[in-house]
This record gives sequence, C-alpha cells and structure tokens, in this order.
Amino acid sequence: MFGAETLDHIAIPVRDLPRSEKFYLETVGLTFLTQRKNADGSPRHTYVKAGENIIGLNLPGIQTEPSPSGAPRYGVAIGSEEKFTSTVEQIRKSGIVDSEIREHASTSPFARSLRFTDFDNNHIEICMNRQSLGEICLSHVVFETTDLPRAKRFYTEALGLKPLGEDQGETFFEFPNHQMIGVSPVAALSDRTKRHGRAVHVAFNVSQEDFDRMLELIPAWGGANQGDFRAEDGLRARGERSLYFSDPDTNKLQLTALGTENWSLISNEEKWKRTAENREKLGRGLSRFDRGVKSS
Ligand SMILES: [Fe+2]
Repeated sequence: MFGAETLDHIAIPVRDLPRSEKFYLETVGLTFLTQRKNADGSPRHTYVKAGENIIGLNLPGIQTEPSPSGAPRYGVAIGSEEKFTSTVEQIRKSGIVDSEIREHASTSPFARSLRFTDFDNNHIEICMNRQSLGEICLSHVVFETTDLPRAKRFYTEALGLKPLGEDQGETFFEFPNHQMIGVSPVAALSDRTKRHGRAVHVAFNVSQEDFDRMLELIPAWGGANQGDFRAEDGLRARGERSLYFSDPDTNKLQLTALGTENWSLISNEEKWKRTAENREKLGRGLSRFDRGVKSS
C-alpha cells in the first residue's frame, strides 16, 4: 500500500543545550542518546529518545514568542495512565507554564492530553492515545496551514496518509502504525513556522518504491524538493536515499528509504572527516557554523 510508513524523528530548536537536556530527560522522561559536536568539538545538538524515536534538540534555536495557533506542536504518546500522571506532575513542578489536561471526545484519536511550551517556546504535548503506540513514542506533529484543502491534498495524495478527521479544530492524518500528522488552519503563518531554526525538521520512513513516487508527487501537490545535503557530504549508508522537502506551508520535512546498512550515528570525528573530504571534492569548505565558530 502506498504511503509514508512511520514518523521517525524530529528536530526542534533550542537555545541552551544543558537546560533542554535537563528538561527533556528529567522532566519529560525521555532517554539520552548522544550529543553531536561541531567540527571544533563544541556542542551542536543532543539527541534524546522517546522509545525508538529520536528527538533532536538543535542549537542555535530561534528567538520568537510561542505561536498563537499552538502549532508547530510535537506530541509524545505515553502508554500508561500512571506514567502520564507522573509526567504531568513533573512538568507542573518544573515551572513550565502548562494548560489544563484536555479530555477528548470519544471519536478523537486522543483520550487525554496536556499541552505546554518548553523554555524555548516550542509547543509540546504529551498524550494518551486510543490506539496504543507502546510505552512511549512520538505520537504526532501538528503544523500550521494557510490553506486547509491544499494541506489535506498534500498529506493524503503526496504522502499517502489516511485522513482521520478533526479534533479540537485541527485536522489529522494517520500513518499505518497510528502515529499522526495534524494541521491547524491559520490566517497567516507564525514566526515559529516561518523561521524554523537550523536543521529543524520532521522525518518519515518510506519504502524504496514509494520514495520514487513521492519524488514526483511532492512537487505536484505543492511541496518543494530540497535535495539531500547528507548524501553530498558522503554521510549516507549504501542504498539509503533521503530527501529534504517542504510542504505547501513551508514546514520542513524529510523522507528516508533505508538501504541495507545504517550509519546514522557514525562518530563525530568520522562525520566531519567525511564531510570535509566530500566538500573539498565539490570545491566547498565547512561553513562557519559547521566548524563551530559562533556567528553573532
Ligand atoms: Fe533527519
């Protein structure tokens, strides 16, 4: 069956890595995976995990207010009532401004949820879903859209997701494993959608066959293909293909069709060695940001 298979990983903008690590590990209850470095050894971003899903906490982040729409918003599903309740308590104790627990209609994919904004004004949500996604994992991401019919066509036709209907003013689309993408209609995109933050994106997995079809369908349904800088840098495993692209509302996405090997976490040293070698072949060097020199 045609369609993106799973929500794999996300990256969100943060400005202070130790503060974000502490919050996502100790308060939200995610697991540390690794801290990635710039070429000069300074911190670049930290990967934490919600079950099998990686969440990148990406420097340098962006300086903007929380968006009024509540999107972009990143949802983590928690499997048990007990863990959900204890996570809510931890969030409330941390001094984060949070909202009330929402109880959703019986037709909603969510049973219960709590939205809050993190120290970097990212909208985050923890939820208990009606379709269990296991102990903990990425549940959904909600984006802003200025044209709901166009966004519906894009997520169903280009990415092959199943329409799930509306919940509390947002329209959701489902992956076969019950993870979701949602869109929230807005009159104008917020600064948080427009500015993104460096390397901030939401990534899906797809089969090799569907990857080829999506390469054509994404631009046909209003998205924009942006290539694969990691392949140019020689950082893709054999057979692995990936595409960075935008949806029609400029939300940054990535599709990956895995090959036979997985090198996604080669060492920092090996990564920068390969990157420098490959950029030299292309007649380019490392950018100031990649080297780790802070621009003002
Ligand atoms: Fe990615």
